[in-house]
Amino acid sequence: MSDKPIRIGIVTVSDRASRGEYEDLGGPAICDWLNQALLSPWEAVTRIIPDEQPLIEAALVELCDTLGCCLVVTTGGTGPAPRDITPEATAAVCEKILDGFGEQMRAVSLRFVPTAILSRQIAGIRGHSLMINLPGKPKAIGECLDAVFPAVPYCIDLIDGPYLETRPDVVKAFRPKS
Ligand code: MTE
Repeated sequence: MSDKPIRIGIVTVSDRASRGEYEDLGGPAICDWLNQALLSPWEAVTRIIPDEQPLIEAALVELCDTLGCCLVVTTGGTGPAPRDITPEATAAVCEKILDGFGEQMRAVSLRFVPTAILSRQIAGIRGHSLMINLPGKPKAIGECLDAVFPAVPYCIDLIDGPYLETRPDVVKAFRPKS
């Protein structure tokens, strides 16, 4: 086992944040959530990308293939607006889509807001990396990660990624074989 920190990609997809017209609140919210939840030493690799499919795809591929992130979490661009394109970019670079993640995040989110139905967020696998889309609202980040993260460490085990340990009082990782 390597003692290098586990790398996690955090990608904010927003035209305005990428131009500096709007403070990126989503990326830091993901970082804070992971700091609370993870016991394993980890480091964030962050990117702020406009809503342009080729640029989103290139960032996801770089984080997975070149920088070796076992997990890449995106925020923003999942809705129905003309420029929302994050799920398409994610699907284009994934080999497998894990439909349950999107289903579970929407189901749980609908308890908070009826507009959760508008998010087309997905998750999928590329090589040894798991990618998860989150909506752009900072409030949605905890709501969605709480809903799916118990399954994330085992998913990363199954794709031969590093062993992720969580703080059980924040999120209980479920590993069926242990
Ligand atoms: N999910 C949660 N948990 N909480 C929210 O506030 N907002 C919704 C939805 N999902 C929301 C949510 C709204 S208003 C929209 S438009 C969609 O996510 C898409 O958001 P995005 O385009 O910023 O990704």
